[in-house]
Amino acid sequence: MRIVPLRLCSAGLIALASLAAVVVPVVIRAGDDRNVPDRSPIALAVSADGKRLLSANQTSGSVSLVDLDAGRVLDELKTGEKPAGVAISRDGRLGIVAHWYGGEIAVLGIQGNKLAIAGRVEVGPEPRGVVLSRDGKTAYVAIGVANEVARVDLARRAVTGRLTVEREPRNIAISADDKTLIVGCARGRSVAIIDVPGWKVARTIPIDGENLRQVALSADGKQGYVANMRNRRFPTTRSNIDLGWVLGQRLTRFGTSGSIEFETLTLDTQGKAASDAHGVAISQDGRLIAVSCGGTHEVMIFRTDGKPLPWRMNSSRDLIAPELLRNDGRYRRVNLGGRPTELAFGPDSKTLYVANYLENAIQVVDADSAQVVRSIALGGPKTITLARKGEMLFHAAERSFNQWYSCNTCHSDGHTNGLDFDTLNDGWQDRSTFHERSRKKVPTLRGTTKTGPWTWHGWQKSLDDAMVESFTKSMQGSRPSSEDVRALVAYLGTLEYPPNPHRNKDGSLPAAAVRGREVFRSPRAACNTCHGGEEFTDGKIHEVGLEVAEDRYRGYNPPSLKGLYDKDPYLHDGRAKTLREILTGDHSPEKVTGLGSLSEQELNDLLAYLKCL
Ligand code: HEC
Ligand code: HEC
Repeated sequence: MRIVPLRLCSAGLIALASLAAVVVPVVIRAGDDRNVPDRSPIALAVSADGKRLLSANQTSGSVSLVDLDAGRVLDELKTGEKPAGVAISRDGRLGIVAHWYGGEIAVLGIQGNKLAIAGRVEVGPEPRGVVLSRDGKTAYVAIGVANEVARVDLARRAVTGRLTVEREPRNIAISADDKTLIVGCARGRSVAIIDVPGWKVARTIPIDGENLRQVALSADGKQGYVANMRNRRFPTTRSNIDLGWVLGQRLTRFGTSGSIEFETLTLDTQGKAASDAHGVAISQDGRLIAVSCGGTHEVMIFRTDGKPLPWRMNSSRDLIAPELLRNDGRYRRVNLGGRPTELAFGPDSKTLYVANYLENAIQVVDADSAQVVRSIALGGPKTITLARKGEMLFHAAERSFNQWYSCNTCHSDGHTNGLDFDTLNDGWQDRSTFHERSRKKVPTLRGTTKTGPWTWHGWQKSLDDAMVESFTKSMQGSRPSSEDVRALVAYLGTLEYPPNPHRNKDGSLPAAAVRGREVFRSPRAACNTCHGGEEFTDGKIHEVGLEVAEDRYRGYNPPSLKGLYDKDPYLHDGRAKTLREILTGDHSPEKVTGLGSLSEQELNDLLAYLKCL
């Protein structure tokens, strides 16, 4: 896909200017702003002198250049599909933005108050986090679907190295001496420590956590931090939830060298939990640590001077350490509204910048006094669309019991966190010792409005009713209004699959996949009898041998096979880690149709085809 760099339409610029408190004699009437996009900043980067900030705006596909002294947007440029990460050089003259749905990074020149695209480099499928070396000559990118970190020589505009890390690297940070990179791998449940001069993965640290988001390093590069959640695997009952036994939020710390594995701080207070830990930042003097929680609309600020924080080695507490609740200034919660995502401290070690996705703003917090001192509007429509209302509900933890989680906790970014839960969506919960038999993998919500019936068993015939179930059963919260349901369904309708990285550039199938399509449709495999049609599902219920005696609903609905390469782990309980495991194990053609097995060649071709869907 080619992306043509375009300045924002004039309406966008006018809205931008007026919201940024510049006096512009333009009246925007309600309804006039339908083409003004939400900005939804998901990531930010601050120049070394603390004067300039770049934000990666996910909904508008743009980058904003912000003057932090004046508190206003200097320029904004449409850069590409779904920006996910952004970096700025120390001198503030160069920016890099990673396009999650574009498979590339754009190099941005910053001249005076203007942004311009200086070039693009294809890096691989679903790049997320990006950082720059101190001299601004090399970029390092976390590539979510390739499970790689790419090194990009910016002068040559070429990838000069790739390292394999664990599943779904999302965020990346670099030490001040350029020697160490840390990468949080969400579905790998681990952190990779990369030795940059030796260009190798020096260590992989498995952590007690999932859904890893922003990572940060202490100024001396010795300690790494990641904001993450923890799946405790107990059934979703109110009492389990409030004990911290279903899922909880954590700040995890690890040494970048030596043998210390990891330590955690639990962020949840009973009765008033934290939700969707996303951003983390450490002040340069090491005195303050900030963690944003998107679902509970807040930033938590920890002070490390005085007493050391109550880190728990190699495991975690169910609830926040009681000593932090003494109101002595070591731990404070600052309400920000919206969905705070990435964080960065300014060079003064006390000014904290927050990308607030749902507020369409960069917020400035004085971390010493725990006060919001400014909100810099990036622009957005004046009237909130129905889909945006749905997006707000999707990220609102207060809609769950004691605000423990939001839809986004499980269906991360509208996709899946790759975990399984024992919700009541299938009619029962396994109360036996290991709670395994009724667990269900979190399905992606991409394309979900087109693939009824819903739930793995497919018993749910109405998406509207499915929303009510999600609020009252998965979230153990109050019933949604009919307006809430309409809004959520409108939002779900916006969730699309990324472009498929396994197809040829022109979208056609490679030769092996063409052969695999024949296997898929052959009478022996007969995959298309159940996974047929445009969405690769017949919408019916089939018993394919994966049922257990206690199931409240018989059989399963064939899941859509779209975007399969990134839906791991597979099957209703996530029992298969790879596509090959499905087709040689519990869902092999012999087992499903009983019409005979596939040769190794046929199997490889079929796998090549499945990856292209
Ligand atoms: C605790 C994790 C969790 C939370 C929170 C959660 N879900 Fe789910 N969701 C699941 C699981 C697990 C399933 C599969 C359940 C099943 O099939 O029995 C599911 C299924 C669904 C489905 C059906 C998808 C399909 O293709 O069949 C939709 C739609 C959905 N969830 C939307 C939501 C919305 C909207 C929210 C917030 C109101 C939400 N979920 C909150 C875990 C969660
Ligand atoms: C008789 C109907 C039927 C046939 C034939 C069939 N499937 Fe399935 N398939 C299902 C059902 C039902 C499920 C869900 C089962 C579960 O998760 O317990 C499923 C699940 C899958 C999944 C897992 C998807 C995910 O997101 O986890 C894949 C991949 C898959 N099938 C591929 C195939 C292929 C390839 C073939 C042909 C070799 C095939 N299926 C034949 C009904 C069928």
